[in-house]
Amino acid sequence: MDKNKFYITTPIFYANGRPHVGHIFTMALSDIFARYYRLRGDETFFLTGTDEHGTKIVRTAKEQGKEPQEWVDEVAEWFQDAAITLNLSHDIFHRTTNKEKHWPVAQEIWKRLDKNGDIYKKEYTGLYCVGHEAFVTEKDLDENGLCPDHGTAPEEVEEENYFFKLSRYQDDLREKIASDELHITPQERKNEVLAFIDRGLEDVSFSRPAKTLDGWGIPVPGDESHLMYVWADALTNYLSGIDYFTDKEKAQYWPANIHMLGKDILTFHAIIWPAILLAVGIPLPQQIICHGFITSGGYKMSKTRGNVVDPFEYVEKYGVDALRYFLAAAIPTTQDGDFTHEQFVRRYNGDLASGLGNATARILALAEGVDFSGVEARPSELDEAERFKNAWVNYGEAFDNRDLRAAIGEVWELIHWVDGYIEKTKPWEDKDPLVLYTLCVALANISWLLRPFLPQTAEKIAEGLGIAGKATWDFEPKKIDPLFPKIEE
Ligand code: MSP
Repeated sequence: MDKNKFYITTPIFYANGRPHVGHIFTMALSDIFARYYRLRGDETFFLTGTDEHGTKIVRTAKEQGKEPQEWVDEVAEWFQDAAITLNLSHDIFHRTTNKEKHWPVAQEIWKRLDKNGDIYKKEYTGLYCVGHEAFVTEKDLDENGLCPDHGTAPEEVEEENYFFKLSRYQDDLREKIASDELHITPQERKNEVLAFIDRGLEDVSFSRPAKTLDGWGIPVPGDESHLMYVWADALTNYLSGIDYFTDKEKAQYWPANIHMLGKDILTFHAIIWPAILLAVGIPLPQQIICHGFITSGGYKMSKTRGNVVDPFEYVEKYGVDALRYFLAAAIPTTQDGDFTHEQFVRRYNGDLASGLGNATARILALAEGVDFSGVEARPSELDEAERFKNAWVNYGEAFDNRDLRAAIGEVWELIHWVDGYIEKTKPWEDKDPLVLYTLCVALANISWLLRPFLPQTAEKIAEGLGIAGKATWDFEPKKIDPLFPKIEE
């Protein structure tokens, strides 16, 4: 690859129900990074998809009177539709039931681990939480012996399983994380992972008997009576999605620059995944960004509480960019955040309808039909050129620091400046072409800065300036429909 490359992934979503706002959050954050790196000119690959094996999926399919394949096909389509609705710029929608593309990679990794002496068979008795798709211990349960997340009793399971020698990689892994060779963001999550490692890593169950899963899963190489457990099955999608073993060109995207994920699957990604990679000698991902959870009114969303936010309703009513904006700007990238209708309306009306919408409408109305042929200064020679340049520098730094709120904050700095500049120069009095040209340059910068976040809006602004699809500063401004009509409630 001649250019810089950038590879970002969302987790692959459990094909077990409809996409909700939590999934959409992970998707939106990842897309903003993907679009930013593409804007910078980096060769970018963005992976998303569905995780389609496991006990839960087999059971839900049964409850629905469907074959597992029929069920996951349906759910995968919901997630694909969600990705399109959210205007995701993904390069692949990857599915773990893809036997040609995914299975051989998962099996190749297994074989390499086996060859390396990292896999062994052992009799195992444990408590299995179907909701978590994981073995749990007594200390994970509440005082009634139920899983606190799912309110269900775990099942006692006695099986012979293959195990992965995770314990072998404890020291190596600790060193890679402590030194940021595998960079975990934010710092408090990194500390949590280090503390987890320091409590001692135990080997993990790596397979399940095929009969307990109705044969639904990826067969263990050389032992068809076992299917791969979620680790080797799902995590390896990040390699199979770029055809790591068979496509030399695409394989260069590895290591992933960012794995974006929520805090519930951090240990899964920050411990088991890198240990597998260390074992088979494949470079570790560069960074894991761990975002928080979206609550509503301070509570976990639940049907009983009646606080479930339906992201698709928001897209339908207010447009996809309004939702993308809220997720990126109102919810801190790496902390928990709250999504309520009142906050959404406040942000929408304040930032989008009044702030961005008004500034755009004012500039385009003032500059429409103005002849700029007499303006000699190029954008880089304007008195305000430094301000625009700085906005880009700060914006880039915010992206480097993985702080999307700070990045989009640069747009609002410019909007405030535009408002002040208009008040100061009063261009409605004399229509000074230099002043109006400066405002158009500011708006063009705003449009470019907005592209990763609000792609449709950025395009509309560029159309208003007469520069859509063109690399030019020769503006032909004209009025456009309001970007974000005010929500009157
Ligand atoms: N299938 C696994 C991931 C395997 S990756 C090799 C999985 N899937 S999931 O569908 O349950 O979750 C996908 C993502 O959605 C995770 O990053 C999870 O943190 C995120 N969210 C689920 N609910 C959420 C909120 N309420 N808020 C924010 N994100 C949350 O885990």
